[in-house]
Amino acid sequence: MTDTVLVVDFGAQYARLIARRVREAHVYSEIVPASISVDEVRARAPKGIIFSGGPKSVYETPAPSIDPGVYDLGIPILGLCYGAQLMALQLGGTVSRTGQGEYGRTELSLTAASPLSPDWPVSSSVWMSHGDAITEVPEGFVATAKSPGAPVAAMHDTDRRLFGLQFHPEVVHTDRGGEVFDHFLIDVCGCLPEWTHVSIIEQQVAAVRAQVGSDRVLCALSGGVDSAVAAALVHKAVGDQLTCVFVDTGLMRSGEADQVEDTFRRQFKVDLVHVKAADRYFTALAGVTDPERKRKIIGELFIRIFEEVARDLGAGGDGGSGAGADAGGGAPHGDGPRFLVQGTLYPDVIESGSDTAANIKSHHNVGGLPEDLAFDLVEPLRLLFKDEVRAVGEELGLPHEIVWRQPFPGPGLGVRIIGEVTPERAEILRNADAVVVEEIRRAGLYRELWQSFAVLPAVRTVGVMGDGRTYAYPIVIRAVTSDDAMTADWARLPYDLVERIASRIINEVEGVNRVALDVTSKPPGTIEWE
Ligand code: XMP
Repeated sequence: MTDTVLVVDFGAQYARLIARRVREAHVYSEIVPASISVDEVRARAPKGIIFSGGPKSVYETPAPSIDPGVYDLGIPILGLCYGAQLMALQLGGTVSRTGQGEYGRTELSLTAASPLSPDWPVSSSVWMSHGDAITEVPEGFVATAKSPGAPVAAMHDTDRRLFGLQFHPEVVHTDRGGEVFDHFLIDVCGCLPEWTHVSIIEQQVAAVRAQVGSDRVLCALSGGVDSAVAAALVHKAVGDQLTCVFVDTGLMRSGEADQVEDTFRRQFKVDLVHVKAADRYFTALAGVTDPERKRKIIGELFIRIFEEVARDLGAGGDGGSGAGADAGGGAPHGDGPRFLVQGTLYPDVIESGSDTAANIKSHHNVGGLPEDLAFDLVEPLRLLFKDEVRAVGEELGLPHEIVWRQPFPGPGLGVRIIGEVTPERAEILRNADAVVVEEIRRAGLYRELWQSFAVLPAVRTVGVMGDGRTYAYPIVIRAVTSDDAMTADWARLPYDLVERIASRIINEVEGVNRVALDVTSKPPGTIEWE
């Protein structure tokens, strides 16, 4: 079993970055709520515990707290910011509102040696964000650092292996912050740095084999990174027990369908059902302009097609064992697939609470999956952050284009054609989008941008080309930077790049005579136009 470190979340998702830093040190981390009981902590047998920061003051009511019995378990604990103050308060120290908060880069002075920073210089730059400060350490502790606004910027009790830091080692602005985690995890907790993408693959392959046994598994591929990595992992685990389904809606990006064919059928030799359903989609979408109606139609048609394929393969019906059935994999299940692969990631698991088996969010899938087909879920990515999914994808040999592909909405180009979706418009948009993506890649910006794509508002504008007037569509270039799609900034693309994209689209994509650049951030705009 891999060594585990629990990261206790005291609010506002501070824990997420810490959990990622721990994993970057090759130790497996899990985020747990502050309400976790001492028995639960003991049952998980972590090698170490880290308390996150949080947005509250320890003196607010209610302020998040933790059962103080956790200090008596003999497990090393590192408290950060709020977590350090809580530790100080719960163990008998003093936390005061000094009136001298610190926000941002701050000078830290070491006053005593610490196992967390054994070779740091006396003075270094760290990131602070606090109003209250620890003013007296608890009994048994010594203060090891101070800053202008924090008389106790670091403290420890090495006998009990309890540590508190007022600063944030998890942010990049703290010099050598990463070393703090290395020293805590390896030297203090004695963790083995065994969480690597190779070991992730080994563990997940073993887990999938144990879950699936000799049963068959179905996986919907979307062309995106999550479903591709999930499929490749499951394929490595159970080989030809896996059948993948790819529904070409006619609303995919340029080359996406070929890439799925190439990668999965030809390279990985996966049993792939490729449904060419563009005609059905265009028929269903004829005359529809309302964005939410489009989404609904596209999602429902996907479910219908997926059901048809699944039933053709013998899934569902009498043979279905149903979610919650014994997942030991031993029970015979007719001929049809009993399991369904789901590309759920760790952030989704955190967001939807701990019980996620029943929590199928439509945006994890191509367009939502059938609920009345009785499948047990296989979720080989549910412990992983996105960067780990990409590393695993590369390790499994998936092409860079898939591993690093920008997010793409389930309804695809359907919500990037503003107005009625027709085959002609989809083709124009796909070709224009291919130019945007190609030029962005060529400029070396593809990975830096959260998304970069073309939008086709279905209006026609007048232009002149050669001797004649044209009456054709405009294309809008949309490129944004973002961390999580909740907010986004419009990307300041270099003008010469914008010009290259614009002139190539006008010259190469028939049916377009004008190119515009979207300079709206989110909020007030959204990333997509519909
Ligand atoms: P907005 O446009 O709301 O998009 O700023 C935020 C993120 O969500 C994606 N998006 C969708 N994804 N189905 C999806 O699977 C949808 O209907 C959908 N609409 C928007 C969008 O691409 C961006 O990454």
